[in-house]
Amino acid sequence: MLNSYKGLLRAGLTLGLLAVIVGCDNAGPVVGPELVSGHPGKARYNEYCYSCHTPGIAGAPRLGDALAWAPRLAKGRALLVQSTIKGLAPGMPARGLCYSCTDEELADAVDYMIAAVEGVSN
Ligand code: HEC
Repeated sequence: MLNSYKGLLRAGLTLGLLAVIVGCDNAGPVVGPELVSGHPGKARYNEYCYSCHTPGIAGAPRLGDALAWAPRLAKGRALLVQSTIKGLAPGMPARGLCYSCTDEELADAVDYMIAAVEGVSN
């Protein structure tokens, strides 16, 4: 009885510690999407862009990855929106595969990705 109680306590402490570690991670250079949870581009991102840009499939710059995004941000927002609409060979498909998205909705998704890397919470 006492032993299983101790086990539970230990598990609880471990979980608590994990939460602290994960919490600290958020303060690092890779900003979690939860920091920009209210963003208008978030829903589209999660529906269409997430599959490639969260794991970094085929060289896709990962959400919140400052290093991967630095050269992209240097191009400026307008160019990033353009390459989202037209696609960017070889890996980035036109419209990020969201053919029902308007240009504005795609721009919102790009803004969300920019906000994630700049750590803007809005
Ligand atoms: C099938 C995978 C895939 C999907 C889905 C996808 N992307 Fe990408 N994206 C990529 C890859 C790969 C690159 C890197 C292209 C390169 O530089 O060669 C990229 C690059 C980008 C860039 C940087 C463009 C530049 O000019 O440097 C932006 C912005 C972007 N994607 C936005 C989006 C948005 C917004 C969506 C959703 C609407 C989306 N992507 C969906 C794979 C994807």
